[in-house]
Amino acid sequence: MRYIGNKTRLLPFLLSTIERLDLAPKTAHDAFSGTAAVGRALKAAGWRVASSDLMTYSYVFQRAYVVAQRSPSFAALRAGDPELRRALRSPSFRASTAGTGALGAITEYLARWIDGERGFIGTHFAPAGGRMYFTQENADRIDAIRRRLHEWWSSGLIEDDAYYVLLAALVEGADRVANTAGVYAAYIKRWQANARRPLTLKPEIPQRGPRGASAHRADAGVVAASAGEVELIYIDPPYNARQYAGYYHVPEVIARGWFDAVPVLRGKTGLVGSAGQQSDWCSARKAGAALSELLAATGARHALVSYNSEGLLSERDLRDVLARAAKFGTVKRYSRGYRRYRSDSDRVGRVYQGDRVRELLYHVRLR
Ligand SMILES: C[S@@+](CC[C@H](N)C(=O)[O-])C[C@H]1O[C@@H](n2cnc3c(N)ncnc32)[C@H](O)[C@@H]1O
Repeated sequence: MRYIGNKTRLLPFLLSTIERLDLAPKTAHDAFSGTAAVGRALKAAGWRVASSDLMTYSYVFQRAYVVAQRSPSFAALRAGDPELRRALRSPSFRASTAGTGALGAITEYLARWIDGERGFIGTHFAPAGGRMYFTQENADRIDAIRRRLHEWWSSGLIEDDAYYVLLAALVEGADRVANTAGVYAAYIKRWQANARRPLTLKPEIPQRGPRGASAHRADAGVVAASAGEVELIYIDPPYNARQYAGYYHVPEVIARGWFDAVPVLRGKTGLVGSAGQQSDWCSARKAGAALSELLAATGARHALVSYNSEGLLSERDLRDVLARAAKFGTVKRYSRGYRRYRSDSDRVGRVYQGDRVRELLYHVRLR
Protein backbone atom coordinates (compact mmCIF):
# COMPACT_ATOMS: atom_id res chain seq x y z
CA MET A 1 0.00 0.00 0.00
CA ARG A 2 1.11 3.58 -0.67
CA TYR A 3 1.99 4.69 2.84
CA ILE A 4 4.05 7.47 4.35
CA GLY A 5 7.06 5.91 6.00
CA ASN A 6 6.55 2.49 4.36
CA LYS A 7 9.89 0.71 4.80
CA THR A 8 9.54 -1.83 2.00
CA ARG A 9 12.36 -0.28 -0.04
CA LEU A 10 14.58 0.01 3.02
CA LEU A 11 14.24 -3.60 4.12
CA PRO A 12 17.61 -4.69 2.70
CA PHE A 13 19.26 -1.83 4.64
CA LEU A 14 17.41 -2.73 7.83
CA LEU A 15 18.05 -6.47 7.57
CA SER A 16 21.72 -6.00 6.72
CA THR A 17 22.11 -3.69 9.73
CA ILE A 18 20.57 -6.36 11.95
CA GLU A 19 23.08 -8.82 10.52
CA ARG A 20 25.99 -6.43 11.03
CA LEU A 21 24.97 -6.13 14.68
CA ASP A 22 25.10 -9.91 14.87
CA LEU A 23 21.58 -10.23 16.23
CA ALA A 24 20.29 -13.79 15.88
CA PRO A 25 16.53 -14.14 15.26
CA LYS A 26 14.62 -14.39 18.53
CA THR A 27 11.65 -12.22 19.50
CA ALA A 28 11.20 -8.75 18.03
CA HIS A 29 8.66 -6.01 18.62
CA ASP A 30 7.78 -4.04 15.45
CA ALA A 31 6.33 -1.18 17.49
CA PHE A 32 4.99 1.10 14.71
CA SER A 33 3.92 -1.50 12.26
CA GLY A 34 2.00 0.50 9.59
CA THR A 35 1.91 -1.72 6.50
CA ALA A 36 3.56 -4.56 8.51
CA ALA A 37 6.36 -4.59 5.91
CA VAL A 38 9.04 -4.85 8.60
CA GLY A 39 7.20 -7.41 10.72
CA ARG A 40 6.70 -9.72 7.77
CA ALA A 41 10.37 -9.41 6.71
CA LEU A 42 11.49 -10.21 10.26
CA LYS A 43 9.09 -13.19 10.31
CA ALA A 44 10.61 -14.42 7.04
CA ALA A 45 14.06 -14.06 8.59
CA GLY A 46 13.02 -16.32 11.47
CA TRP A 47 12.01 -13.80 14.14
CA ARG A 48 8.96 -14.28 16.34
CA VAL A 49 7.26 -10.92 15.92
CA ALA A 50 4.96 -8.93 18.17
CA SER A 51 3.66 -5.91 16.31
CA SER A 52 1.63 -2.86 17.19
CA ASP A 53 0.07 0.26 15.70
CA LEU A 54 -2.77 2.61 16.61
CA MET A 55 -4.62 2.12 13.34
CA THR A 56 -7.12 -0.66 12.58
CA TYR A 57 -5.95 -1.16 8.97
CA SER A 58 -2.46 -1.79 10.33
CA TYR A 59 -3.89 -4.39 12.72
CA VAL A 60 -5.47 -6.06 9.67
CA PHE A 61 -2.09 -6.13 7.87
CA GLN A 62 -0.34 -7.44 10.97
CA ARG A 63 -2.85 -10.27 11.25
CA ALA A 64 -2.63 -11.11 7.53
CA TYR A 65 1.13 -10.83 7.02
CA VAL A 66 2.69 -11.51 10.42
CA VAL A 67 0.28 -13.68 12.41
CA ALA A 68 -1.44 -15.86 9.75
CA GLN A 69 0.51 -19.05 9.09
CA ARG A 70 -1.16 -20.98 6.30
CA SER A 71 -3.51 -20.62 3.38
CA PRO A 72 -7.12 -21.02 4.54
CA SER A 73 -9.12 -24.02 3.33
CA PHE A 74 -12.55 -22.33 3.54
CA ALA A 75 -14.15 -25.72 4.25
CA ALA A 76 -16.84 -24.33 6.59
CA LEU A 77 -17.63 -21.53 4.18
CA ARG A 78 -18.06 -23.83 1.23
CA ALA A 79 -20.39 -25.98 3.28
CA GLY A 80 -22.30 -23.10 4.88
CA ASP A 81 -22.96 -20.54 2.13
CA PRO A 82 -25.44 -21.88 -0.45
CA GLU A 83 -24.96 -18.97 -2.87
CA LEU A 84 -21.19 -19.51 -2.89
CA ARG A 85 -21.69 -23.26 -3.33
CA ARG A 86 -23.82 -22.65 -6.40
CA ALA A 87 -21.13 -20.38 -7.91
CA LEU A 88 -18.37 -22.89 -7.12
CA ARG A 89 -20.31 -25.58 -9.00
CA SER A 90 -20.99 -23.51 -12.10
CA PRO A 91 -18.85 -24.52 -15.10
CA SER A 92 -17.92 -20.94 -16.01
CA PHE A 93 -16.74 -20.23 -12.46
CA ARG A 94 -14.73 -23.45 -12.39
CA ALA A 95 -13.15 -22.60 -15.72
CA SER A 96 -12.11 -19.13 -14.57
CA THR A 97 -10.62 -20.35 -11.27
CA ALA A 98 -9.00 -23.61 -12.39
CA GLY A 99 -5.68 -24.08 -10.58
CA THR A 100 -6.07 -21.07 -8.29
CA GLY A 101 -6.71 -23.03 -5.09
CA ALA A 102 -9.30 -22.27 -2.41
CA LEU A 103 -8.03 -18.75 -1.73
CA GLY A 104 -8.04 -17.92 -5.45
CA ALA A 105 -11.60 -19.21 -5.89
CA ILE A 106 -13.01 -17.25 -2.94
CA THR A 107 -11.18 -14.15 -4.15
CA GLU A 108 -12.65 -14.50 -7.62
CA TYR A 109 -16.11 -14.95 -6.13
CA LEU A 110 -15.78 -11.77 -4.06
CA ALA A 111 -14.16 -9.68 -6.76
CA ARG A 112 -16.31 -10.67 -9.74
CA TRP A 113 -19.35 -12.70 -8.82
CA ILE A 114 -21.19 -10.78 -6.14
CA ASP A 115 -23.07 -7.63 -7.11
CA GLY A 116 -22.06 -4.23 -5.83
CA GLU A 117 -24.35 -2.71 -3.19
CA ARG A 118 -24.70 0.71 -1.60
CA GLY A 119 -23.12 0.89 1.85
CA PHE A 120 -20.98 3.26 3.90
CA ILE A 121 -18.24 3.81 1.30
CA GLY A 122 -20.65 4.20 -1.61
CA THR A 123 -22.81 6.61 0.37
CA HIS A 124 -20.03 8.85 1.65
CA PHE A 125 -16.80 8.46 -0.32
CA ALA A 126 -18.11 8.30 -3.88
CA PRO A 127 -20.13 10.66 -6.11
CA ALA A 128 -23.43 9.73 -4.40
CA GLY A 129 -22.04 11.40 -1.27
CA GLY A 130 -20.45 14.31 -3.16
CA ARG A 131 -16.90 12.93 -2.76
CA MET A 132 -14.60 11.41 -5.34
CA TYR A 133 -12.40 8.94 -3.46
CA PHE A 134 -13.76 6.04 -5.52
CA THR A 135 -15.91 5.70 -8.61
CA GLN A 136 -19.43 4.73 -7.60
CA GLU A 137 -18.98 1.28 -9.06
CA ASN A 138 -15.79 0.55 -7.15
CA ALA A 139 -17.24 2.01 -3.92
CA ASP A 140 -20.32 -0.21 -4.19
CA ARG A 141 -18.10 -3.22 -4.79
CA ILE A 142 -15.97 -2.38 -1.76
CA ASP A 143 -19.17 -2.20 0.32
CA ALA A 144 -20.50 -5.49 -0.98
CA ILE A 145 -17.22 -7.32 -0.31
CA ARG A 146 -16.82 -5.70 3.11
CA ARG A 147 -20.33 -6.71 4.17
CA ARG A 148 -19.88 -10.26 2.89
CA LEU A 149 -16.62 -10.64 4.84
CA HIS A 150 -18.33 -9.35 7.97
CA GLU A 151 -21.22 -11.79 7.57
CA TRP A 152 -18.95 -14.78 6.93
CA TRP A 153 -16.77 -13.93 9.90
CA SER A 154 -19.46 -13.04 12.41
CA SER A 155 -21.39 -16.21 11.60
CA GLY A 156 -18.26 -18.34 12.05
CA LEU A 157 -18.02 -19.41 8.39
CA ILE A 158 -14.45 -18.16 8.06
CA GLU A 159 -11.67 -18.21 10.61
CA ASP A 160 -9.75 -15.17 11.75
CA ASP A 161 -6.78 -15.82 9.45
CA ALA A 162 -8.97 -16.10 6.35
CA TYR A 163 -10.93 -13.00 7.34
CA TYR A 164 -7.83 -10.86 7.82
CA VAL A 165 -6.10 -12.14 4.67
CA LEU A 166 -9.15 -11.17 2.58
CA LEU A 167 -9.72 -7.91 4.44
CA ALA A 168 -6.08 -6.91 3.93
CA ALA A 169 -6.52 -7.64 0.22
CA LEU A 170 -9.62 -5.42 0.18
CA VAL A 171 -7.87 -2.48 1.92
CA GLU A 172 -4.90 -2.80 -0.47
CA GLY A 173 -7.16 -3.25 -3.52
CA ALA A 174 -9.18 -0.17 -2.56
CA ASP A 175 -5.95 1.81 -2.20
CA ARG A 176 -4.95 0.86 -5.75
CA VAL A 177 -8.17 2.39 -7.14
CA ALA A 178 -8.36 5.37 -4.76
CA ASN A 179 -8.58 8.71 -6.55
CA THR A 180 -5.88 10.32 -4.42
CA ALA A 181 -2.25 11.34 -4.69
CA GLY A 182 -1.39 8.64 -2.15
CA VAL A 183 -2.87 9.98 1.09
CA TYR A 184 -6.56 10.46 1.80
CA ALA A 185 -6.28 14.03 3.12
CA ALA A 186 -7.86 15.05 -0.20
CA TYR A 187 -9.32 13.37 -3.25
CA ILE A 188 -8.47 14.53 -6.76
CA LYS A 189 -11.20 16.48 -8.53
CA ARG A 190 -10.79 14.59 -11.84
CA TRP A 191 -10.78 10.81 -12.14
CA GLN A 192 -7.23 9.45 -12.34
CA ALA A 193 -6.42 6.44 -14.55
CA ASN A 194 -5.94 4.13 -11.54
CA ALA A 195 -9.36 5.10 -10.10
CA ARG A 196 -11.17 4.22 -13.34
CA ARG A 197 -9.85 0.65 -13.24
CA PRO A 198 -12.10 -1.96 -11.66
CA LEU A 199 -11.29 -3.00 -8.11
CA THR A 200 -9.13 -6.14 -7.93
CA LEU A 201 -8.21 -8.31 -4.96
CA LYS A 202 -4.75 -9.84 -4.68
CA PRO A 203 -4.60 -11.65 -1.35
CA GLU A 204 -1.22 -12.88 -0.21
CA ILE A 205 -0.81 -16.51 0.71
CA PRO A 206 0.24 -16.55 4.39
CA GLN A 207 3.78 -17.76 4.99
CA ARG A 208 4.88 -19.98 7.83
CA GLY A 209 7.00 -18.43 10.54
CA PRO A 210 7.85 -19.00 14.17
CA ARG A 211 4.79 -19.66 16.33
CA GLY A 212 3.55 -17.10 18.81
CA ALA A 213 3.47 -13.97 16.65
CA SER A 214 1.00 -11.36 17.86
CA ALA A 215 -0.77 -8.28 16.51
CA HIS A 216 -2.00 -5.32 18.51
CA ARG A 217 -4.08 -2.25 17.76
CA ALA A 218 -2.54 -0.33 20.60
CA ASP A 219 0.02 2.23 21.68
CA ALA A 220 3.62 1.09 21.17
CA GLY A 221 4.50 1.82 24.82
CA VAL A 222 1.62 -0.22 26.19
CA VAL A 223 2.53 -3.23 24.04
CA ALA A 224 6.25 -2.83 24.85
CA ALA A 225 5.47 -2.96 28.57
CA SER A 226 3.36 -6.09 28.25
CA ALA A 227 5.64 -7.91 25.77
CA GLY A 228 8.28 -8.55 28.47
CA GLU A 229 11.85 -9.38 27.45
CA VAL A 230 12.51 -9.28 23.72
CA GLU A 231 15.74 -9.26 21.77
CA LEU A 232 14.91 -6.31 19.54
CA ILE A 233 12.47 -3.44 19.37
CA TYR A 234 12.16 -1.70 16.01
CA ILE A 235 10.96 1.86 16.46
CA ASP A 236 9.67 3.60 13.32
CA PRO A 237 7.44 6.40 14.60
CA PRO A 238 5.77 9.22 12.68
CA TYR A 239 8.37 11.91 12.22
CA ASN A 240 6.28 14.89 11.28
CA ALA A 241 3.05 16.60 12.34
CA ARG A 242 0.80 14.54 10.11
CA GLN A 243 -1.53 12.31 12.09
CA TYR A 244 -2.02 9.02 10.28
CA ALA A 245 -5.64 8.97 11.52
CA GLY A 246 -6.35 12.02 9.34
CA TYR A 247 -4.32 10.94 6.34
CA TYR A 248 -5.64 7.38 6.10
CA HIS A 249 -9.21 7.68 7.40
CA VAL A 250 -10.68 5.89 4.37
CA PRO A 251 -8.62 2.66 4.75
CA GLU A 252 -9.47 2.93 8.45
CA VAL A 253 -13.20 3.01 7.69
CA ILE A 254 -12.89 0.01 5.36
CA ALA A 255 -10.88 -1.92 7.94
CA ARG A 256 -13.35 -1.16 10.73
CA GLY A 257 -16.43 -1.73 8.58
CA TRP A 258 -19.20 0.16 10.26
CA PHE A 259 -22.38 -1.88 10.32
CA ASP A 260 -24.25 -0.73 13.44
CA ALA A 261 -23.32 2.56 15.12
CA VAL A 262 -22.64 4.66 12.02
CA PRO A 263 -20.13 7.45 12.72
CA VAL A 264 -20.66 11.12 11.97
CA LEU A 265 -18.37 12.37 9.20
CA ARG A 266 -16.69 15.77 9.29
CA GLY A 267 -15.66 18.18 6.58
CA LYS A 268 -15.01 17.89 2.87
CA THR A 269 -13.00 14.71 3.20
CA GLY A 270 -15.41 12.88 5.53
CA LEU A 271 -13.11 12.48 8.52
CA VAL A 272 -14.27 10.06 11.19
CA GLY A 273 -13.62 10.45 14.93
CA SER A 274 -10.16 9.21 15.85
CA ALA A 275 -10.29 9.10 19.64
CA GLY A 276 -7.27 7.16 20.91
CA GLN A 277 -5.50 7.36 17.54
CA GLN A 278 -3.91 10.81 17.84
CA SER A 279 -0.19 10.27 18.26
CA ASP A 280 2.14 12.17 20.60
CA TRP A 281 4.92 11.39 18.13
CA CYS A 282 3.39 13.95 15.74
CA SER A 283 4.07 16.77 18.20
CA ALA A 284 7.50 18.41 18.39
CA ARG A 285 6.82 19.13 22.06
CA LYS A 286 5.89 15.57 23.02
CA ALA A 287 7.95 13.33 20.71
CA GLY A 288 11.12 13.34 22.86
CA ALA A 289 9.22 12.32 25.99
CA ALA A 290 7.33 9.65 24.03
CA LEU A 291 10.65 8.13 22.93
CA SER A 292 12.14 8.12 26.45
CA GLU A 293 8.98 6.53 27.83
CA LEU A 294 8.98 3.84 25.16
CA LEU A 295 12.65 3.02 25.79
CA ALA A 296 11.93 2.79 29.52
CA ALA A 297 8.87 0.58 28.96
CA THR A 298 10.42 -1.97 26.61
CA GLY A 299 12.15 -5.09 27.84
CA ALA A 300 14.26 -5.19 24.67
CA ARG A 301 18.02 -5.81 24.71
CA HIS A 302 18.53 -3.86 21.51
CA ALA A 303 16.63 -0.99 19.93
CA LEU A 304 16.78 0.07 16.31
CA VAL A 305 15.20 3.44 15.63
CA SER A 306 14.37 4.72 12.16
CA TYR A 307 14.21 8.44 11.91
CA ASN A 308 14.07 10.84 9.04
CA SER A 309 16.63 13.59 8.55
CA GLU A 310 13.73 16.09 8.31
CA GLY A 311 11.94 14.81 11.41
CA LEU A 312 10.38 16.81 14.26
CA LEU A 313 13.09 15.72 16.69
CA SER A 314 16.45 17.22 15.88
CA GLU A 315 19.26 14.74 15.50
CA ARG A 316 20.84 16.12 18.66
CA ASP A 317 17.72 15.65 20.78
CA LEU A 318 17.19 12.19 19.37
CA ARG A 319 20.75 11.16 20.16
CA ASP A 320 20.48 12.61 23.69
CA VAL A 321 17.37 10.59 24.47
CA LEU A 322 18.93 7.42 23.00
CA ALA A 323 22.24 7.90 24.81
CA ARG A 324 20.45 8.33 28.15
CA ALA A 325 18.65 5.01 27.65
CA ALA A 326 21.69 3.11 26.30
CA LYS A 327 23.39 0.62 28.60
CA PHE A 328 26.86 1.97 27.84
CA GLY A 329 25.75 5.41 26.64
CA THR A 330 26.72 4.50 23.08
CA VAL A 331 24.56 5.30 20.06
CA LYS A 332 25.53 3.97 16.65
CA ARG A 333 24.15 5.59 13.51
CA TYR A 334 23.72 3.95 10.12
CA SER A 335 22.42 5.92 7.17
CA ARG A 336 21.25 5.50 3.60
CA GLY A 337 19.96 7.98 1.04
CA TYR A 338 16.79 7.31 -0.93
CA ARG A 339 14.44 9.09 -3.29
CA ARG A 340 11.54 10.91 -1.65
CA TYR A 341 8.16 9.16 -1.73
CA ARG A 342 6.24 11.37 -4.17
CA SER A 343 3.01 11.83 -2.23
CA ASP A 344 5.04 13.22 0.66
CA SER A 345 4.69 16.45 -1.24
CA ASP A 346 2.08 18.24 0.86
CA ARG A 347 3.22 21.05 3.06
CA VAL A 348 2.12 20.32 6.64
CA GLY A 349 5.15 20.31 8.97
CA ARG A 350 7.47 19.53 6.10
CA VAL A 351 10.46 21.42 4.78
CA TYR A 352 11.56 20.63 1.25
CA GLN A 353 15.21 19.77 0.81
CA GLY A 354 15.34 18.44 -2.72
CA ASP A 355 14.34 15.04 -3.96
CA ARG A 356 16.57 12.90 -1.77
CA VAL A 357 16.12 12.15 1.90
CA ARG A 358 18.54 10.42 4.26
CA GLU A 359 17.05 7.58 6.22
CA LEU A 360 18.78 7.20 9.54
CA LEU A 361 18.87 4.06 11.62
CA TYR A 362 20.14 4.30 15.19
CA HIS A 363 21.16 1.38 17.32
CA VAL A 364 21.37 1.29 21.09
CA ARG A 365 22.03 -1.59 23.42
CA LEU A 366 19.51 -1.20 26.24
CA ARG A 367 20.50 -4.07 28.56
C1 LIG B 1 6.45 5.71 9.85
S1 LIG B 1 4.97 4.80 10.00
C2 LIG B 1 5.53 3.15 10.17
C3 LIG B 1 5.74 2.54 8.84
C4 LIG B 1 6.03 1.06 8.88
N1 LIG B 1 7.32 0.74 9.45
C5 LIG B 1 5.93 0.49 7.48
O1 LIG B 1 6.94 0.01 6.93
O2 LIG B 1 4.83 0.54 6.92
C6 LIG B 1 4.47 5.21 11.64
C7 LIG B 1 3.29 4.39 12.17
O3 LIG B 1 3.18 4.66 13.57
C8 LIG B 1 1.82 4.56 13.93
N2 LIG B 1 1.70 5.19 15.26
C9 LIG B 1 1.69 6.51 15.58
N3 LIG B 1 1.69 6.68 16.91
C10 LIG B 1 1.73 5.44 17.45
C11 LIG B 1 1.78 4.96 18.78
N4 LIG B 1 1.78 5.78 19.84
N5 LIG B 1 1.84 3.61 18.99
C12 LIG B 1 1.82 2.76 17.92
N6 LIG B 1 1.78 3.16 16.64
C13 LIG B 1 1.73 4.48 16.40
C14 LIG B 1 1.09 5.20 12.78
O4 LIG B 1 -0.25 4.79 12.72
C15 LIG B 1 1.92 4.72 11.59
O5 LIG B 1 1.38 3.54 11.04
